[in-house]
Amino acid sequence: MLAKSIAVSLALAQFASAAEYWESFKSQVNPKNISIPSIPQTTSYDEVTQCTYYEASNFQFVESEWPTPWETATSNGMNKSAEFKALYNSINWGNMPNISARTMGADGAIDMSGYDESNDPDCWWSATTCTVPKHKDVNPDIYTCPEPETWGLTYDDGPNCSHNAFYDFLEEQKLKATMFYIGSNVVDWPVGAQRGVKDGHHIADHTWSHQMMTTLSNEEVLAELYYTQKAIKMVTGVTPRHWRPAFGDVDDRVRWIATQLNLTTVLWNLDTDDWAAGASEPVSQVQGNYEDFIKMGSNGTFATSGNIVLTHEIDNMTMQMAIDYLPQIKKNYKNVLDVATCMNITTPYMENSVKFAPFGKTSTTSSVVTAAGSATSASASSSDSAQTANKESSASKVSATSALALALIVAIFA
Ligand SMILES: *[C@@H]1O[C@H](CO)[C@@H](O)[C@H](O)[C@H]1NC(C)=O
Ligand SMILES: *[C@@H]1O[C@H](CO)[C@@H](O)[C@H](O)[C@H]1NC(C)=O
Ligand SMILES: *[C@@H]1O[C@H](CO)[C@@H](O)[C@H](O)[C@H]1NC(C)=O
Ligand SMILES: *[C@@H]1O[C@H](CO)[C@@H](O)[C@H](O)[C@H]1NC(C)=O
Ligand SMILES: *[C@@H]1O[C@H](CO)[C@@H](O)[C@H](O)[C@H]1NC(C)=O
Ligand SMILES: *[C@@H]1O[C@H](CO)[C@@H](O)[C@H](O)[C@H]1NC(C)=O
Ligand SMILES: *[C@@H]1O[C@H](CO)[C@@H](O)[C@H](O)[C@H]1NC(C)=O
Ligand SMILES: *[C@@H]1O[C@H](CO)[C@@H](O)[C@H](O)[C@H]1NC(C)=O
Ligand SMILES: [Zn+2]
Repeated sequence: MLAKSIAVSLALAQFASAAEYWESFKSQVNPKNISIPSIPQTTSYDEVTQCTYYEASNFQFVESEWPTPWETATSNGMNKSAEFKALYNSINWGNMPNISARTMGADGAIDMSGYDESNDPDCWWSATTCTVPKHKDVNPDIYTCPEPETWGLTYDDGPNCSHNAFYDFLEEQKLKATMFYIGSNVVDWPVGAQRGVKDGHHIADHTWSHQMMTTLSNEEVLAELYYTQKAIKMVTGVTPRHWRPAFGDVDDRVRWIATQLNLTTVLWNLDTDDWAAGASEPVSQVQGNYEDFIKMGSNGTFATSGNIVLTHEIDNMTMQMAIDYLPQIKKNYKNVLDVATCMNITTPYMENSVKFAPFGKTSTTSSVVTAAGSATSASASSSDSAQTANKESSASKVSATSALALALIVAIFA
């Protein structure tokens, strides 16, 4: 372990820039040849069966090598690891926009008092839905698909067990989506993440523990992104170039830190509120949102450009709504596809060997140029309960605290 850390830090020390961090992740998975094990967890539609714990053959979760799932990614001493310190020290923090971390109010919402919303100097999305950075050297956000009548398909908060029916549906319909995966979920349900890559979805980073990023310290923001990049790479063999902040909470400080990891922020311009359906919003209201957005595909709203729609793969409610509405979405829009393809990004991962087809080169979806592995369906381990929060989704989760025993840690984000 010590020897390994030293090797990693030496390797990092040779890098010209922080953005090459991903080259030190030694994954056992070839993203072009993923085999999903044909076990009940990956073939059943029964939730209990799907969520029965098992281990992936090519990814062993060693607790001491990762932040504690569903805790801030600096937990478990992970801000002191050689690899993280080398990364941190390779960044020129003096160039960071001079913006302080925000604070949470007693009511569990972010405190925006004192922020100059009319000038919005920090392009703080939570305050103003700003998507065009004000500071320099910050990657600009992606928040809409440029092509007319195009629906940018995105699902947040995966992977998880119990998602076989949903992934099977997308596969049958030849639909590809951008999947924003939570690092804690990736280590808990590795085969779910592997299926996302195998099926040709565009995999992106959705932080380690799904917190309000603008409230975290520089070190915490870096760790939330870095350990999720590492989890996705170790489990699936690819390292994302895109990320989405939980609840959309991003400002130019957080964007700048993401930029150091060569990550681009992806937001949205239509929000279904699907995570709230049946909880803080009536199901009928969310159905109304879907129906309006579907209408917009053929009534001229998107005659000159498209959208990116915020939806979730959290639970049966959100996934079944997607299944129910996708046939109408396909009828009313010319293109329904993942963000990489709609942006004509053919190399959405650091590994340029994994290529997506250019926009327009497949009918309505992208296609990853990969060799197929075996079997279909996926997912893994345990279960938990989800809670809702602010603007976007929320999630809560279980962590496998040892290879054999599962400890349930249900975190509720407000
Ligand atoms: C960052 O990503 C861009 C493409 O998105 C690539 O051209 C560039 O080489 C990357 N930088 C580093 C240092 O890896
Ligand atoms: C793909 O993986 C299978 C088993 O996982 C292996 O037998 C096969 O040789 C691999 N193919 C390539 C091209 O790597
Ligand atoms: C590591 O992170 C923890 C929790 O965020 C913090 O209390 C501690 O000061 C950090 N350690 C170092 C060396 O920065
Ligand atoms: C950063 O901004 C604070 C005020 O918010 C100011 O006091 C401080 O001097 C600034 N630091 C630099 C390096 O500009
Ligand atoms: C298209 O439909 C949406 C949703 O019903 C509506 O808000 C919008 O005004 C309509 N636009 C036009 C040009 O009819
Ligand atoms: C949701 O639950 C119903 C009833 O158990 C089931 O028939 C359906 O397949 C589930 N949908 C998804 C997407 O899992
Ligand atoms: C997409 O990018 C390719 C180059 O990768 C270019 O040839 C093509 O014209 C682009 N298509 C669109 C629709 O922008
Ligand atoms: C994962 O799936 C289980 C079972 O369907 C569900 O209870 C839980 O809320 C999901 N967890 C997350 C974090 O989405
Ligand atoms: Zn989320």
